[in-house]
Amino acid sequence: MHADHSGRREAREEGQAAEHLMARAHAETSYAAGEPILQVRDLVKHFPLTQGIVFKRQVGAVKAVDGVSFDLHRGETLGLVGESGCGKSTVAKLITHLEEPTAGTLRYKGEDITRLSGRALKAVRRNIQMVFQDPYTSLNPRMTVGDIVGEPFDIHPDVAPKGDRRRRVQELLDVVGLNPEYINRYPHQFSGGQRQRIGIARGLALRPEIIVADEPVSALDVSVQAQVINLMERLQDEFELSYVFIAHDLSVVRHISDRVGVMYLGKIVEIGSEEQIYEHPTHPYTQALLSAVPVPDPEAEQERERIVLEGDVPSPANPPSGCHFRTRCWKAQHRCVVEEPLLAVPENFADSRPGEAVHHPSACHFAAERAAVVPPGVSG
Ligand SMILES: Nc1ncnc2c1ncn2[C@@H]1O[C@H](COP(=O)(O)OP(=O)(O)OP(=O)(O)O)[C@@H](O)[C@H]1O
Ligand code: SF4
Ligand SMILES: [Mg+2]
Repeated sequence: MHADHSGRREAREEGQAAEHLMARAHAETSYAAGEPILQVRDLVKHFPLTQGIVFKRQVGAVKAVDGVSFDLHRGETLGLVGESGCGKSTVAKLITHLEEPTAGTLRYKGEDITRLSGRALKAVRRNIQMVFQDPYTSLNPRMTVGDIVGEPFDIHPDVAPKGDRRRRVQELLDVVGLNPEYINRYPHQFSGGQRQRIGIARGLALRPEIIVADEPVSALDVSVQAQVINLMERLQDEFELSYVFIAHDLSVVRHISDRVGVMYLGKIVEIGSEEQIYEHPTHPYTQALLSAVPVPDPEAEQERERIVLEGDVPSPANPPSGCHFRTRCWKAQHRCVVEEPLLAVPENFADSRPGEAVHHPSACHFAAERAAVVPPGVSG
């Protein structure tokens, strides 16, 4: 009886493995070299606002993500920054299929993966994994490290058959710099940095191609942040990973990112290479964010001109007309009230050539350069 069961299980696992390989091969053939690994287009997530206890009726919507587009290339890191509540985590959840978009499309290796279910969803989820913010709450305190890191294998047994799991988990612990002998320990027996390593090992278990890291070092001490960032960079090279890296610390994002997108009230307002965004920002919001970052050189710090943004971020349930940023922008004019600026290379830089610093998309009618330099914040 037992032998019969395990025989059937092995056959099932072999079948699943073959299915996965076929799905990957299919994706590879329709995916030209150099094409983005992930294409996000006009992504929208509106959370309904309801009133009433028994008879709930929709009275509005929180426009958490309101038309976000970007490409992610193989092996690159795209940083996403912006103030609290601007929609960064919601973008992360949409890409990893933890939330369903209200509108828009997601393409993975050229294939539309926006609305999937069943096996197709499972196959895509395997390749796009998430690493969460808080290493204190995101790990189940009652599970051993071995169970936590090996849990993805329960959903994808084809990746590591039961008999091989312990070895695979120990390998993963080793890869992220943890002692493989700690496999039977519980999360509370580890420091914050070690717990984040556990979270990363779990994210790596299924050998994904894309990792979406939502504030992965925000809860850690600065010295430990550097170690975890360095680990993520090493793993990126080793496993050819593509990262979407979300953080509100602009220096950390500068250190790890190849390109950076700046979000405000559900939209990307400026996007470009790390140098374009940090050395040549053209959107007033980016300039204001950067002006608030301390500079280590005391003389430069003294001379630094800070832009103080007036007022709070408006509610995403009722964003301003035209440009979402206009209620806090010192350059706002009538055009900003009546006409929404699109995310494109601004008209006044139309003569610039691709590769030039100002030649990058910025959603502002009056985009202009303003010096602002933020040093990379993580060393090592
Ligand atoms: N499940 C939900 N239901 C209703 N509103 C939500 C839900 N999830 C997020 N929101 C709202 O959507 C907006 C964007 O939230 P999100 O968590 O994506 O922002 P964030 O940029 O990650 O912020 P933070 O920097 O604080 O993590 C916020 O106004 C938030 O309150
Ligand atoms: S479009 Fe107008 S309000 Fe918006 S950022 Fe540009 S100048 Fe400011
Ligand atoms: Mg968040």
